[in-house]
Amino acid sequence: MSVFKSIAVAGAQSAIGKVIVLTLAATPGMSVLVLTRATTARPAYLPENVAHAGINYSDVDATATILSGHKVEVVISPVNGAAVLEQIPLANAAKAAGVKLFVPSEYGTITKGIPAEDVSPFLQGKMQVADHLQSIGLPSLRVFPGIFQDYVPLLVGYGASKKVNILRSLKGDTPFSTTSTDDIGGFVAHVVTRHPLSVLADKVVRIEGSRVTLNELGAVFEAPVEKVDAIPGVEGVRTAFIAQLQKFIEKGYLNTETKLADGDGSGGANALWEDHRWTPLKETLKL
Ligand SMILES: NC(=O)c1ccc[n+]([C@@H]2O[C@H](COP(=O)([O-])OP(=O)(O)OC[C@H]3O[C@@H](n4cnc5c(N)ncnc54)[C@H](OP(=O)(O)O)[C@@H]3O)[C@@H](O)[C@H]2O)c1
Repeated sequence: MSVFKSIAVAGAQSAIGKVIVLTLAATPGMSVLVLTRATTARPAYLPENVAHAGINYSDVDATATILSGHKVEVVISPVNGAAVLEQIPLANAAKAAGVKLFVPSEYGTITKGIPAEDVSPFLQGKMQVADHLQSIGLPSLRVFPGIFQDYVPLLVGYGASKKVNILRSLKGDTPFSTTSTDDIGGFVAHVVTRHPLSVLADKVVRIEGSRVTLNELGAVFEAPVEKVDAIPGVEGVRTAFIAQLQKFIEKGYLNTETKLADGDGSGGANALWEDHRWTPLKETLKL
């Protein structure tokens, strides 16, 4: 029996969003509303029992009216990295509509307690959203799963060279978490339906499917490990982004254990999904 009876999902067409929507839609007694941009048609995958509304993110009053009309108690928004700041007006609408919990789009490098010198542009927006939620008094749940398992080949340029490429400046021995998108979405849907607000409100949680180091990926892929100046197979903005991720892994910003600040989720939260079998990395990669 879920504590919350009405949940809205924005960013419902991301891999995580789809799992969240489908899991919630299969939860007895749950009312599910999918929010898309007004320009996006009703997603074809939505089951009939899921409501859909197109919104203009910047129109706070109109979104608040829609959320109130559906008596929404939780907003989950696994939106695209480029859309992160759209969550500020969405959060304002949620607050105005009496929503009790907002689950913003984090899902990567730990943002709580990260040293100022490491706040790269792709983290800035996420931190701004977290600060905004706090400033308007809307409780949040921030979920950090390490690297999506599907992204691990890209992280080390495996697709391009059939080798595990690690930046020369790094040792490659710091453990990091990898989690499948099915497990990430499943976790979010599970916790918001099984745990009360007191367990979830203003929590930072780290979850993990498999734990590995960059060097250990050699054994995972059964491929040579090579130290390189640049990760092959990635271009443009992504070059810097992937290099940054490897550096963050080395600093422990993508695992469940490295403590950065009080309440940063270190220690892990897999236990919130009781009896779940977490998908191992090799299984997702079909290795
Ligand atoms: N840890 C990792 O390895 C990893 C890897 C990838 C992503 N991530 C993170 O996971 C989260 C989801 O990313 P993703 O790549 O999975 O997302 P994605 O598939 O690109 O997201 C698609 C969703 O984002 C929405 N969207 C796109 N542009 C938008 C805009 N301008 N305004 C509002 N909504 C917009 C779409 O909305 P409509 O439904 O309206 O079309 C769609 O539902 C992000 O926080 C990202 O940084 C982490």
